[in-house]
Amino acid sequence: MSRRGALLLGGLGAAATAAGGAGLWWSLASRSSSRTAPAAGAELSQPSELRSTGGRLEVRLEAAAARIQLAGQQAWALGYNGGIPGPTLRLRRGDVLSVRLANNLDQPTNLHVHGLHVSPEGTGDNPFVVVNPGAAYDYEYRLPADHPPGVYWYHPHHHGMVADQVFAGLFGAIIVEDPEPVPASTERVLVISDTTLDGGGNVVRVSQMERMLGREGELILVNGQSNPGFTAVPGQRERWRIINACVARYLALRLDGQQLQLLGMDSGRFRTPSAVEELFLAPGNRADVLVTTAAGDSILRAAYYDRGSMAGMMGPGPGPRRTEQPDAAGAALATLRVAGSPGTSPSPQPSPSSSPLPSVREPDDLRTAAVAAHRQLTLSSGAGMGMGGAMMGFTINGREFSEARTDTTVAAGSVEEWTLTNPSPMDHPFHLHVWPMQVIEEGGRAPDRPEWRDVVNIPAQGRVKVRVAFNDFVGRSVYHCHILDHEDLGMMGVIEVR
Ligand code: C2O
Ligand code: CU
Ligand code: CU
Repeated sequence: MSRRGALLLGGLGAAATAAGGAGLWWSLASRSSSRTAPAAGAELSQPSELRSTGGRLEVRLEAAAARIQLAGQQAWALGYNGGIPGPTLRLRRGDVLSVRLANNLDQPTNLHVHGLHVSPEGTGDNPFVVVNPGAAYDYEYRLPADHPPGVYWYHPHHHGMVADQVFAGLFGAIIVEDPEPVPASTERVLVISDTTLDGGGNVVRVSQMERMLGREGELILVNGQSNPGFTAVPGQRERWRIINACVARYLALRLDGQQLQLLGMDSGRFRTPSAVEELFLAPGNRADVLVTTAAGDSILRAAYYDRGSMAGMMGPGPGPRRTEQPDAAGAALATLRVAGSPGTSPSPQPSPSSSPLPSVREPDDLRTAAVAAHRQLTLSSGAGMGMGGAMMGFTINGREFSEARTDTTVAAGSVEEWTLTNPSPMDHPFHLHVWPMQVIEEGGRAPDRPEWRDVVNIPAQGRVKVRVAFNDFVGRSVYHCHILDHEDLGMMGVIEVR
């Protein structure tokens, strides 16, 4: 096996081979100590940025194993263009984004632009494209002239390998700029991911049990860093673009001491931002947040969220749960220090927290739309029989993913209402490509204002109703659980709009 092959497997075996017997020993010692919250470390860094000009952005993204600085140590991980996260792509509505994806991994991959409202066909956001090792593929994404502004992201989507590749570092941010700028003193991109490294700095392989639970890494990283620090002066309005790029970890984020306003979730922006104390991001969700700074130190924390377990798998009684200890304070992700006097901002346009926000066009409210079809989608992770005995089946409407089968056929231009049910004892975050979902009923009640999301959490034993306008594009695409291990295990279906 090549060095790269060993790295991609990323297992203890590879580390032990490279480091001799000491590798395994060191790895066990280091894994147990990495659980403690790191002290506020290096200055928060921003991923590099690539910005469209004249309506186009052409980028080359090379997926490869590389020595990458992660959580303050040299890791052997996977990155786009050598970084974790990959470069931030900044676009405007109406742009054409061309990506040459070069696969220098030793396994197939491809690229998905999560949340973008673009064609799923051909060289567009086509999840069925396979880019083999050593090959390259030219994607072209054409954003409609009315594409919603917001926070999006890219990651691989080759079925069966998505969780491993994202866990190893393949993801990056996409920002679609507002038509009129939102006044803010500073804009930050915070890509939150998790992973686990062994003592040799290799991304660990996970067990089948962890896949079924949905793996959670021991390290929670912001832009690849462990508890980075950053500073601001009081009385400013900052804009933070937060992405939950974790394979399976839910994030209930708090920033006590600072005033947070939610400007948008997933695609688009709300007409008016609302004050929030906690941001709940299921895997795949993004938040567009305004932070009004107040003097003092504040820690961005992820509170413990119980997303259920796998009762039934091992017979009666509660199944195995996540190993993480519930901790009232939550894990420290980053530390913000607000100090100085408001007048000292080096920003060219100091922006008091009161400057008005430009108005934004929201999508048509589907609560009053004519519904062409009602559908039921049931997400199950139930016990079943497989080769070698009892195992979990991860299905939608009782079926595991098959690329050859189209599960749902929708008439182009119609509005549908989908009832998403989850009879299983663990939460499943449901994601639909290309067409955003408007939440119609969640937790038994209707949201009081239009809420659009492309990942909607379906709680254990819960139900959510959404409506979708299948506008602008035809073609085959997918919906799936965004616990990426579950997607890889089969919890995905094919939709065709025609
Ligand atoms: Cu972010 Cu189909 O996924
Ligand atoms: Cu997606
Ligand atoms: Cu799931």
